[in-house]
Amino acid sequence: QLPEKVTIIEVGPRDGLQNEKAFIPTSVKKDFIKGLRNAGLTEIELTSFVSPKWVPQMADAAEIVADCLDDQTRNIVLAPNQKGIDRVYKTDCKAVAVFVGVSDTFNQKNINKSTQESMLELIPIIHELKENGYFVRACISTAFYCPYEGKIELEDTMRLCRQFVEAGVDELSVADTIGLAVPHESFAVFSSLKKEFTNTLLTAHFHDTRKIALANIFAALQAGVDRFDTSAGGLGGCPFAPGASGNAATEDVVYMLERMGIQTNIDLDKLVEAISIVQPHLSRAIDSTYYRFQQQN
Ligand code: HMG
Ligand code: MG
Repeated sequence: QLPEKVTIIEVGPRDGLQNEKAFIPTSVKKDFIKGLRNAGLTEIELTSFVSPKWVPQMADAAEIVADCLDDQTRNIVLAPNQKGIDRVYKTDCKAVAVFVGVSDTFNQKNINKSTQESMLELIPIIHELKENGYFVRACISTAFYCPYEGKIELEDTMRLCRQFVEAGVDELSVADTIGLAVPHESFAVFSSLKKEFTNTLLTAHFHDTRKIALANIFAALQAGVDRFDTSAGGLGGCPFAPGASGNAATEDVVYMLERMGIQTNIDLDKLVEAISIVQPHLSRAIDSTYYRFQQQN
C-alpha cells in the first residue's frame, strides 16, 4: 500500500549549494528560496550555520535567514555544534537540523569529532531546543555506506537513530550520502526504521551518484516512507564525502510521484522557474531529466 501523498523537503539551498566553489550572491539564494516556496515547497533547508572556513558558501546564513522566513513554510537551518546553535538563537528561525554520521571516519572529516563526541555535544542541545519549542530534525549521514569505511551495519544506523529519538527529535532524515545504496537495501533499512520509530517523522535522503535514487525512493515508499529530501535541479553533495554528487532532483521525484497518482502539491513549471534563477550561477550543468527535457522542448 503506497501513500496517497508525499511531503518533499527541499534541500537545494543548503545541500544543493554548499558544494559550489564560487560564492553565489546572497540575493540569488534568496530569490531561489522564494521561487521554491512559490512552487509549493513547504519544508525547505535554507542554509547552515557551519564554520565559514570549512564551508565558505554558507557564510551568509544569518543574512539568508533574516530575509527568508515565512509562516507557511518549515524553514530549516543546519547547525553542527553549540556555536552554530548560538548563531541560530540570534535569528527567528524555529526549526533546526543537527547532523551526524554513523561512520566515525566520515564524522571526523565532516565535523572534526567522532560520532559519539558529536552526540555528547548534541544531546543537551536537542533537549534545550525542545524545551524552547523548536522543531528538531536529525540528519543521519552514511547510514548505508561510508566513503572511508565502506558498508555500514544496519544495527549501527539503528543505534544512532535510537539515540536521537530518545533525545526527543521530531524527525529522522536518514541519508545515503554517497549514493551507493540499492533498492533492496533502501527497503530493508527503511522497513526497520519504520517498524521501530512509530512516533517520529521518517524521511529518506538519497544522493543520486549512480542514478539509483529514484529506485531507492520507490523502495522506501514500499517500506512506508512518505517524506523525501530532494534538491531542485539535482544539485548537491557534501564537500567532505568524496564521490558524493547531487541529491535526487525534486522535479524528477515530483514527476514520478504525480504520474503514480501520489500527491505532492508542487507545481513543476514554477519549480523549473526557481531552478532557472540559480542555474546561471552554478559551476555545472543541471542534469535532471525533467529540467533538461523542459529546456529542449
Ligand atoms: P573545528 O575547526 O573543529 O571547530 O570545526 P572549532 O570548534 O575548533 O572552532 C574553530 C573555528 O571555527 C573557531 O573560529 C570557531 O569560532 C569557528 P576561530 O576562532 O578560528 O576564528 N566555528 C564556527 N563558526 C561558525 N559557525 C559554527 C562554528 N563552529 C566553530 N557553527 C565544525 C568544527 C563543526 C565547525 C566544522 O567541522 C564545520 O563547520 N563542519 C561543517 C561541515 C558541513 O557543513 N558539512 C556539510 C553538511 S552535512 C551534509 O551535507 C550531509 C547531509 O546532507 C546528509 C547526507 O547527505 O549524508 C546532511
Ligand atoms: Mg546530503
